[in-house]
Amino acid sequence: MKQQIINVPRHVAVIMDGNGRWAKKRLMPRTFGHAAGMNAMIAMARKAKAMGITYLTVYALSTENLARPKEELEGLYSLIRKYFTKNVKDLYAEGAAVRVIGDITALPEDVQKLIKEGVENSPKDAQFFVILALNYGARAEIVRMVNAAISRGERISEEQASALLDTADMPDPDLIIRTGGEIRLSNFLLWQAAYAELYFTDVLFPDFDEKEFEKAIDDYSRRNRRFGKV
Ligand code: IPE
Ligand code: IPE
Ligand code: MG
Repeated sequence: MKQQIINVPRHVAVIMDGNGRWAKKRLMPRTFGHAAGMNAMIAMARKAKAMGITYLTVYALSTENLARPKEELEGLYSLIRKYFTKNVKDLYAEGAAVRVIGDITALPEDVQKLIKEGVENSPKDAQFFVILALNYGARAEIVRMVNAAISRGERISEEQASALLDTADMPDPDLIIRTGGEIRLSNFLLWQAAYAELYFTDVLFPDFDEKEFEKAIDDYSRRNRRFGKV
């Protein structure tokens, strides 16, 4: 029998990369890969909740991604629409909430409205949170934080800085996973990642199934986090 993982992370953040290459291998348009990626993301959230993880942050659209061709962006917006009209309901039914980080004001207005409703309609007593990073960039987030601090007109502490970020009410990620083979953060959670454990896999995100997720959590659970101490 498989041993139970004891040291489960509280907050896992995932850079869901490789959708385009997954589609290309199948001679399909990139949007087909994004649709498969969304299914993988939904399955991953279910697994994360079942494993006792509390926060799952998913990098779904970066500030840099907004420069992609209009056709691909339209495909991504349609998937976001689908997620917030259909899939969130299953999440609510399981007592889970959805949150968003990033600057959604750059997204189409109807998409913004659906996102806001999705966040507002979330159960208030949720024990599990899916946090979607949409038009998210860590540098833009840090600049927003700095500007908020300046308009307060006082010097701030690290704790106050954290509280002015989009992730204000969440703990820092314990584990950051990146699928798709690249070994970089691509402007994801730069402040919050200060002491995160990092896990990289070549598996393309649509192929990143429950088994692969469990492998990443198992790897994390055997690490020794020292936080600079001895
Ligand atoms: C990540 O997959 C998803 C988004 C950026 C929206 P990609 O679209 O970057 O897929 P690859 O890296 O081109 O394979
Ligand atoms: C990071 O993937 C962004 C998301 C997964 C949403 P990218 O494919 O955009 O990153 P780069 O271009 O490889 O750094
Ligand atoms: Mg990519």
